Amino acid sequence: MSIPNIKTPLPGPNARAIIERDKAVVSPSYTRGYPLVIGRGAGSSVEDVDGNVFLDCAAGIAVTSTGHSHPAVVKAITEQAQKFLHMSGTDFYYEPQVRLAEELAAIAPIRGGVRSFFGNSGTEAIEACLKLSRYTTGRQNIIAFFGAFHGRSMGSLSLTASKAIQRRGFGPMLPGVFHAPYPDRYRPPLGATADTCADACIDFIEHQLFANLVSPDEVAAVVVEPIQGEGGYIVAPDSFMQRLRELTNRHGILLVADEVQSGMGRSGKMFAIEFTGVEPDIVAIAKGIASGLPLGVAVARSGLMAWPPGAHASTFGGNPVSCAAALATIVLLRDQLVANAADVGAHLMAGLQALSDKHPLIGDVRGRGLMIGVELVRDRRTKERATTERDAIVTAAFNRGLLVLGAGKNAVRFSPPLVLTRSEADTAIRIFDEALTEVETKR
Ligand SMILES: Cc1ncc(COP(=O)(O)O)c(C=O)c1O
Repeated sequence: MSIPNIKTPLPGPNARAIIERDKAVVSPSYTRGYPLVIGRGAGSSVEDVDGNVFLDCAAGIAVTSTGHSHPAVVKAITEQAQKFLHMSGTDFYYEPQVRLAEELAAIAPIRGGVRSFFGNSGTEAIEACLKLSRYTTGRQNIIAFFGAFHGRSMGSLSLTASKAIQRRGFGPMLPGVFHAPYPDRYRPPLGATADTCADACIDFIEHQLFANLVSPDEVAAVVVEPIQGEGGYIVAPDSFMQRLRELTNRHGILLVADEVQSGMGRSGKMFAIEFTGVEPDIVAIAKGIASGLPLGVAVARSGLMAWPPGAHASTFGGNPVSCAAALATIVLLRDQLVANAADVGAHLMAGLQALSDKHPLIGDVRGRGLMIGVELVRDRRTKERATTERDAIVTAAFNRGLLVLGAGKNAVRFSPPLVLTRSEADTAIRIFDEALTEVETKR
């Protein structure tokens, strides 16, 4: 089967009928960039309900880490489903949850003992991080970053500073949350340069937030994405993470790494923070951990996770089927796919960077492993954001059979399943090239 293979105008008749039904009964708050109605998936390919086949560089928002329906993951899910579907790991015991916590202890970017709290999603992982940080420090305030996305429940939404529409109409937010600029080397904040923005952002926290707004001894945690995801796939400089660790240590503030999007091998290491040599106190994990089944985890130093029975729990969190999927996922990641993400990621990155020679719309190509962002600009000198052009390119790619998603205001993200091959990466580059040409010639 050739991938991609588009046989009908998009959306095809079956897809169109489902989309019409969706409009009548499903929440209109979802942001569908283009009309894909999946029928089935395998590896890096997705077939829609009209038989059109797409190359998937979106992975259900960076989730299907082992590819669609990896046989080993499906087998683990099936075997667990035949035994029992649910018992609630908060009131009873089952071995898959214990085994997963043991595996997470082995791979977590935190040395020494850790403990895991299980929820069902990224936002629940962040809520657990917030509650644990407040509980163990006895402090209330939290620092997060502009551009960050940490979820949509009220606690995590209060940290999210990505798009105003995500907060509009839902205030007031959690009190005691302060935002600092994020060190974007392409668009350095605070009048800094690419090389000085890491220091400038730390200095902002130290000399402005701590001096003018909040005393550091009342800050429970700093929550940071080592690579901003929804914000545009922006990689924080290593020195920023190192200085943040030093600053938080100095003031007894917990460092929470949100690895919901950057974790589980996507960056070419199991966790993106490993590139920086920094150890967080708590790490939030979700998305790719269970290849598509719902699971979110807050992993913390054992000494920190010492809250009493009843302090925090979740009926469905750590569902046994999700745990079985996660255990199979971790084996695949450890044995092959983290290395594949590094290898194919470097290949994809080089190919996308080469496109910038012929496409003036490309302003910046950045990322790690198979977490790559391409920022589009109308003018490389002024860096005016090519927002409508970005949306048009995502649609043009879809019409040619390549699934990608936007990130931030004007970036395209490549977040494929980590099983992507070099030849599939070449296909993605070719189609992206064509999509850029189409949009550039129409301007
Ligand atoms: C870095 C990060 N944190 C948290 C979340 C929230 O995850 P969920 O949508 O599973 O609640 C996301 C989702 O995109 C994310 O990218």
